[in-house]
Amino acid sequence: MEAPCSNLLHIQDSVTHDPVHAHPLLQDMDSYRKMYNESIKDGNAFWKRMAEELLTWFRPFERVCNVDLSDEDCAIPEDGCVSWFEGGRLNACYNAVDRHVINGRGKKVALLHEANEVGVCRKVTFETLLKCVSQVANALLSMSVRKGEVVTIYMPMIPETVYCMLGCARIGAVANLVFSGFSSSALATRLQSTRSRVLLTADRLNRGNRLVELMPVVKDALLVCPHVEYCVVYQNSDQSVPRDGLEIADQLTCQSHSSALSDLSNSMAGIVQNFHHLIFYDFTEWMGKERMYCPCEWMDSEDPLFVLYTSGSTGKPKGMIHTTGGYLVYASLTHKYLFKVREDDVYACMTDLGWITGHTYVVWGPLLNGTTTCMFESTPLYPNPCRYWDFVQRYKVNIFYTAPTAIRALMKYGESEVSKYDLSTLRVLGTVGEPISPSAWEWYYRVVGKGKCSIVDSYWMTESGGILLAPIPGVTPMKPGSCCLPFFGIKPALIDPNTGDELTSKGIKGVMCVSKPWPSMARGMHGDYKRFVCTYFEPYRRHFFTGDGAYLDKDGYFWITGRLDDVINVSGHRLSTAEIEASLASHGTCTDVAVIGIPHDIKGQSICAFCVPKRGYEFQENLTFELCQHVRRTIASMAMPDKLYLVPALPKTRSGKVMRRLLRKIAAFEFDSLGDISTLAEAEVIDQIISVVRRQGGHK
Ligand code: WTA
Repeated sequence: MEAPCSNLLHIQDSVTHDPVHAHPLLQDMDSYRKMYNESIKDGNAFWKRMAEELLTWFRPFERVCNVDLSDEDCAIPEDGCVSWFEGGRLNACYNAVDRHVINGRGKKVALLHEANEVGVCRKVTFETLLKCVSQVANALLSMSVRKGEVVTIYMPMIPETVYCMLGCARIGAVANLVFSGFSSSALATRLQSTRSRVLLTADRLNRGNRLVELMPVVKDALLVCPHVEYCVVYQNSDQSVPRDGLEIADQLTCQSHSSALSDLSNSMAGIVQNFHHLIFYDFTEWMGKERMYCPCEWMDSEDPLFVLYTSGSTGKPKGMIHTTGGYLVYASLTHKYLFKVREDDVYACMTDLGWITGHTYVVWGPLLNGTTTCMFESTPLYPNPCRYWDFVQRYKVNIFYTAPTAIRALMKYGESEVSKYDLSTLRVLGTVGEPISPSAWEWYYRVVGKGKCSIVDSYWMTESGGILLAPIPGVTPMKPGSCCLPFFGIKPALIDPNTGDELTSKGIKGVMCVSKPWPSMARGMHGDYKRFVCTYFEPYRRHFFTGDGAYLDKDGYFWITGRLDDVINVSGHRLSTAEIEASLASHGTCTDVAVIGIPHDIKGQSICAFCVPKRGYEFQENLTFELCQHVRRTIASMAMPDKLYLVPALPKTRSGKVMRRLLRKIAAFEFDSLGDISTLAEAEVIDQIISVVRRQGGHK
């Protein structure tokens, strides 16, 4: 089998061995190999040491893992049931905040937040973070939120969202973050399936030129969630931060907003009547009246820390559960080694808290390590495509972590936009979320990193909790487009999809799996353990199935080739074609729908839908527009099809299966290479679809 990118330039050791960029913890590849081998050969000893070094335990754990990791050949249990650091008790928030204050880092900036407008910044020290988090925790306690209860958080990229995440962890509540771009039905589904009593939210968010009112979305969701008893609203519109670019250190949000709150209650009057027990609070008052210290709950290592919904191959999103001890050890260790963090570094991971990258690498990883972590509320293109570079220069960022889709979008504007800024503080550049093409890699390396930074192409997923494969900066020789080698403790396996056997030679393609338990593996799916086992552990016995295909080259480097299921990746957002199909079908005007992802220059993939209108709806004006809007209303605007074709029928096999392969070809205008269509039930359908696609023009 041929390498997917055989003509790659290999960046040689001059980069990796530059003393300025040496790794503080690992000398060279030999030290990586030594440590990696230990982590695989004697996982018990390795993880015991890491867990003791990285975290503060209130009570020490008795056992590292329920699987004996001193056996090199140990595998993942068939029911996916693993437990880590059993018997140990700890608190996530204590580890992320308190102990840094106790150790004299109280005055160090923990969160550096830049709002939508350039230069509007809030810096929150560890000391202040402790106070704010305690206030939120006390406020949650005053609503009788108890250990194990799920609290839903639907908030923008602001420090208050972090207070909520940490506040939940402090009292043992399970945070359920819902990305603030999701629609009311998506929010409602997540509130319902977790039976949340408490919703923490904001009135609006600003993103680029857009001002998004969240209240109408929240109201619609609450109408179908009578179990919600409290809704706490942060008045994001009343920005108490001056717009003149001044930095306000240690802002404590204690001002009164009672008039805003009464406006809100009035506007909610309809709901309040319907659900007399629903109580609204103004976030600032709600936390402001509380004491600034709250003791930490002692949690078991395997107590859930958060649940996070993600797309799978069926229409129903999956609420992945992550637990405390293992997740935190892995978040801290990966962050420390893969981003080469030093004490005074400014670290910026430019993602939203609503995704797993936001959880592990904006909040938990950096805060556990006492790192100053940035939060970015805007977009890379607002007010112009220099926003990221201005950000790096302004805050002297050392480590910058973003998605390939952003890099591709910025590349379009050329090098001159980047070279206006002083980016000399940068040392490590990370990417995540989708494969990075060698050309985007090279641009990131050369134009942004000036050939002096390591590129950490990190491969992982919501279910893995932390990075699985990536080069160690300053240590691993890099290859553009490859996520390189496994992190400590990760034993990757490529499996032959036909036989289910592990492929052991190099230079092969297969299904990407992991064959040993690692600490931050998801522990379940909210309310559906059977589906959890069936999705990840049944396809390839005694392995964890990632959902991706991969190629292993002759040097043992991994190249991710993309998803093998119906999950697509649009601008780094993970979406399920089945979920979009379910939304289109629920509009009630179509008999049949099919959604596919097709390659797109900037977004990676774009969404293309084929819909068969019911009789009587074929000529309805605006049907295409309405179907797209329906997806926006039921899921989110990022899930809206870029192209939607109304067709008389879908290509199906005789057994009734939609032949997506053909739709992909047609959508890409590759009419001449449709391949074998002999299994089609009605061959003439193809010509009809082609003529619709031709008529409506190419894919944007
Ligand atoms: C894809 C994001 C190639 C992959 C952390 C995975 C990647 C899915 C990479 C998970 C990468 C993530 N190279 N593909 N470096 N990183 N992916 O759950 O298909 O939002 O299965 O987690 O993104 O997306 P998720």
